[in-house]
Amino acid sequence: MTVTVAVIGAGADPDTVGPEGFSMGYRHAEAIQSIDECTLVGVADIVEENAVAFADAYDLGDEAVFTDVAELVDERSPDMVTVAVPPHVHADVVIECARGGVEAIHCEKPIAATWADSRLLCQEAARFGVQLTFNHQRRFKPSWELAQELLADGAVGDIERVETYATNLYDWGTHCLDALGFFTDDVPADWVLAGLDYRTENVWFGVHNENHATVSWEYENGIHGHAFTGGPWNPLDCRHRICGSEGELRVDVTDGPGIDVRRYDGDGSTHDPEGADAIQLAMAEVVTAYRTDGTSRLAATNALNGTEIIFAAYESVRQRGRVELPLEIEDHPLETMVSEGTLTPVDTDD
Ligand SMILES: NC(=O)c1ccc[n+]([C@@H]2O[C@H](COP(=O)([O-])OP(=O)(O)OC[C@H]3O[C@@H](n4cnc5c(N)ncnc54)[C@H](O)[C@@H]3O)[C@@H](O)[C@H]2O)c1
Repeated sequence: MTVTVAVIGAGADPDTVGPEGFSMGYRHAEAIQSIDECTLVGVADIVEENAVAFADAYDLGDEAVFTDVAELVDERSPDMVTVAVPPHVHADVVIECARGGVEAIHCEKPIAATWADSRLLCQEAARFGVQLTFNHQRRFKPSWELAQELLADGAVGDIERVETYATNLYDWGTHCLDALGFFTDDVPADWVLAGLDYRTENVWFGVHNENHATVSWEYENGIHGHAFTGGPWNPLDCRHRICGSEGELRVDVTDGPGIDVRRYDGDGSTHDPEGADAIQLAMAEVVTAYRTDGTSRLAATNALNGTEIIFAAYESVRQRGRVELPLEIEDHPLETMVSEGTLTPVDTDD
């Protein structure tokens, strides 16, 4: 079975990366081209020169270039699309594709720029029977993947607490919150409590991100979570720390191994797994799930759990209290607090 794939959102320049853009469409295309069953059949970008440059790079031909998503879907009828547009347009693009008959949609993280849009695009994909996945590709990073396997095999006994450190909660943190879900059986949380500092403007892909935060929550299965972001230092000496009844497992130890397991009985082990490119591994698994009617590790339901914690953390700051879930807000509280003047980050570029 051949899977025809189109990319939505090419990006301006794959060689220039930063908070303004990474041209993730090119990374998607490289991953698609590495999969024998996939054929790249089109690109859409509202900036025509971006779409044309992308089509030239992959020899797609003029007939594969679009500036309108609906026209691309209508004329090329791709089985699958990958979405690499900024977060505030994820919902519009995903819903357009779902309603247009696309059967599998692999969308970039974070899910969307508001909690309402996050729920809506997942709801519409489910309603139209679309396989919707999000590119939390770090579930395929060798150290994160092996950590999940070791934890599932009982490396630290029963998991009691999971901790993570990220540059920020929304843009980078979505990978980390997603990973903690991966380590703890992908269940929703019951409540979230958070505090943050936002004094210097920090906008990633058009969305505000705090400078420093601490977040606590409890999953439905009783496991506690803690996230630390930004600030002057990483209070963990690693990316993730998982504490269990029989020991601790640390992932991506600073200046250390990919995984360090220390058991309270005195045993321990370190691991430095190697692997291929995580974006390619993620894309291959998503395509296989589509071809075999299986379930991807990157399924929308998994992504929603971490995303709810992120938006609930910002809501906790707005409410100055603990937020009980499910989260019943519509907006992105940090964005609202900035636009209403409750938070006044300074633009240091001025
Ligand atoms: N998974 C990761 O590790 C990772 C890394 C970087 C960025 N991202 C995510 O990828 C997404 C895209 O980021 P990027 O860095 O590639 O951005 P980018 O700015 O480099 O590219 C986005 C492209 O989308 C186009 N676009 C905007 N609105 C559109 C629309 N309505 N229809 C069609 N095209 C449209 C723009 O013209 C631009 O060419 C974001 O959600 C970002 O958070 C993920």
